[in-house]
Amino acid sequence: MAPAQVRVRVPAKVNAQLAVGAARPDGFHDLANVFLAVGLYDEITVTHADELRVTCSGPDAGEVPLDTTNLAARAALALAERHGIEPRVHIHIAKDIPVAGGMAGGSADGAGALLACDTLWSLGSSRDELLAICAELGSDVPFSLIGGAALGTGRGERLTPLGVGGEFHWVFAVADGGLSTPTVFREFDRLAEDTDVPLPVADPALLEALRTGDTVALAGALANDLQPAALALRPSLADTLAAGTAAGALAALVSGSGPTTAFLAKDPASAARIAETLLASGTCRTARVATAPAPGATVVPQDSTT
Ligand code: C5P
Repeated sequence: MAPAQVRVRVPAKVNAQLAVGAARPDGFHDLANVFLAVGLYDEITVTHADELRVTCSGPDAGEVPLDTTNLAARAALALAERHGIEPRVHIHIAKDIPVAGGMAGGSADGAGALLACDTLWSLGSSRDELLAICAELGSDVPFSLIGGAALGTGRGERLTPLGVGGEFHWVFAVADGGLSTPTVFREFDRLAEDTDVPLPVADPALLEALRTGDTVALAGALANDLQPAALALRPSLADTLAAGTAAGALAALVSGSGPTTAFLAKDPASAARIAETLLASGTCRTARVATAPAPGATVVPQDSTT
């Protein structure tokens, strides 16, 4: 029997490595993007409705667009169009992932809504069909669907799943306001002007650290080529990075295009201390602890309250 309502849980991501190449003729950048899904989740609930409608709840709900610029709405439209059906659905986003923070919250909602609508409409699309729609929606959306860890090449949408041999403990410092991804990439281009930008390649030491679950080795290999651009646009992030490092983080970096900053901790107790210190430092709006890897978009069983 077709369900009356479907709920999907979908994780945030951090980039363990974000190697960025020169701008391509289409304006995108080739990447070597090592995605790691982390245990901060948005929940997407879809129900039948007279027409497409998006609502959002959560502390930052006011910053989330509810029109067809929202990737969740675009996912429903793309799936409906592909199957020649009307997108008569109410999409509710319970938002816990920082908005415009470099943690792929918008992409998560796109992937979550796609899986939720496919289930609600009993379409039974294959994973490859869903991944193809995800890639049309945005560079980070396919990873939100699969979760875990993966190397993204091309503009980040071509994924190779990676093995992860342990659990990693992260702290995320959420800044006031967002940073626009295109603006950060444009700043990257400006900073790279008149330089030879090398081809982006995944760092073998980083992949090995993930594979073996070696936190110290991972800390030594974390890298984000967008960090100088994010810091140029938001110099105060340097204070946040310094506060987390002083609190005992093994490594500190900007998450994706920022302005969320990410800190790798040696264990859960250290992560809790770093989060407390970051909050008290006044250099961020809030600090969140999360473990990685986390599973990708997952339908929550109907009778589950978690
Ligand atoms: O793919 P997505 O819509 O998420 O990308 C948002 C913007 O980020 C793009 O319009 C582009 O400016 C920039 N981008 C890029 N290279 C990538 C991914 C994103 O320049 N590989």
